[in-house]
Amino acid sequence: MGEQKKVFIKTYGCQMNVYDSQRMEDVLKPLGYAATDGPDDADMVILNTCHIREKASEKVFSELGRLRKIKKARDGEDMIIAVAGCVAQAEGAEIVKRAPYVDMVFGPQTYHNLPEMVAKAHRAGNVGSRGILNTEFPEEDKFDHLPAPSKPEGYTAFLSIQEGCDKFCTYCVVPYTRGAEFSRPAAQVMKEARQLVDQGVLELTLLGQNVNAYHGDDGRGSEWTLGRLIRELADIDGLKRIRYTTSYPAEVDQDLIDAHRDVPKLMPYLHLPVQSGSNRVLAAMNRNHTRDEYLRVIDDLKTARPDLALSSDFIVGFPGENDRDFEDSLDIIRQVGFIQAYSFVYSARPGTPAAVMDLQVDKVVANERLQILQKLLNDTQTEFNQDCIDKTFPILLERIGRNEGQLVGRSPYMQPVHVEAPVEMIGQIRDLKIVSARPNSLGAELIIK
Ligand code: SAH
Ligand code: SF4
Ligand code: F3S
Repeated sequence: MGEQKKVFIKTYGCQMNVYDSQRMEDVLKPLGYAATDGPDDADMVILNTCHIREKASEKVFSELGRLRKIKKARDGEDMIIAVAGCVAQAEGAEIVKRAPYVDMVFGPQTYHNLPEMVAKAHRAGNVGSRGILNTEFPEEDKFDHLPAPSKPEGYTAFLSIQEGCDKFCTYCVVPYTRGAEFSRPAAQVMKEARQLVDQGVLELTLLGQNVNAYHGDDGRGSEWTLGRLIRELADIDGLKRIRYTTSYPAEVDQDLIDAHRDVPKLMPYLHLPVQSGSNRVLAAMNRNHTRDEYLRVIDDLKTARPDLALSSDFIVGFPGENDRDFEDSLDIIRQVGFIQAYSFVYSARPGTPAAVMDLQVDKVVANERLQILQKLLNDTQTEFNQDCIDKTFPILLERIGRNEGQLVGRSPYMQPVHVEAPVEMIGQIRDLKIVSARPNSLGAELIIK
């Protein structure tokens, strides 16, 4: 295509969107688009959006307002404004109506069609809306048509292995925005993993909306589970660390538990969202497990891997949640001692069953509960960090720190770790002794052998 153009992709939402944004950059590169880090000098801006809570969706429209001004100020110069991701999927027509200056709207399953969409946009010319709306769930697998991933910046990379969700938790839009569960074929995943490791990646995080529902075609009439995939990945020499997210508690199988026992490269840290500690609320959420069943899964995992620690997501103020239910959530936090968590006030999403349930919880009450829950989560996190002092962990040293002579790395538990160390150690995994703890990070010393 010759002429160099610039694309700015702004990413909202979950890690799958982060992965998708990188892949969109990879698709656009051969079309002459290089990534830039702001909208001002961009020929194309893509908002990769999230629909999970009301606030997330609303952000899109305010950002579009800003982009519209930039486009206007350009005085007729060409600028493509695009909306991708889950808001595009859920509210494509609404965007076209509410923000007619948006040129392209396309859902998560269509990114491999970007070259055609961009060509069409160029043909349409700078006429305001170019009328491109693509929210199909196409028959063909987008992953079959995406180019190989380009070199990641650091030593860690995401790898999407599963998409979509069939679980229909009553509050959640994901089954509607991402469609039915789909697993990438095992060989395709292995190939992409090897490509990433060849480019210097030491740590892979396998992604999926329900990553443990993975059942990838092995090309021989059989399927690999997530456990099997992890074992095979662990055989890749240069790969040092494996993680996966997000898991669905009701679908943790024995094979996966065994992988935690058998595969040292699988990090002893697991995001296993429970959402609530109350059986009543879990049932109303359609989570398919009770509180005790969740705790049993954790017991089994910890038997397999005693140093395992957990993180979770919580929703407070789900319709019908009373003080007792909320106490049950606090109680399960104390019992499990989550070392990290995301917590949210319930947000009613159009089209989901919970949005029309009786007994919607008062916003003020829900916000009070959130404060209390977050305080407790901070305490359990701080306590875990304190307990790390005097222990030795393998730390993946990733980058230069803010202070002179300092590097920043990651512990097996994803804690950022600060250490005074020579810059040559970046890209190495070193055993470091933890000497200090803060709420969100650790300090360490080099062990001189
Ligand atoms: N597949 C993952 C969750 C993906 S959504 C799982 O099953 O755990 C990420 C998180 O957003 C959820 O875990 C939940 O805590 C939160 N969330 C989803 N829908 C929400 C809603 N309507 N209101 C508030 N939080 C929500
Ligand atoms: Fe949403 Fe539930 Fe599916 Fe997670 S498992 S993506 S919360 S429907
Ligand atoms: Fe948001 Fe879509 Fe992820 S709704 S959380 S970006 S799957």
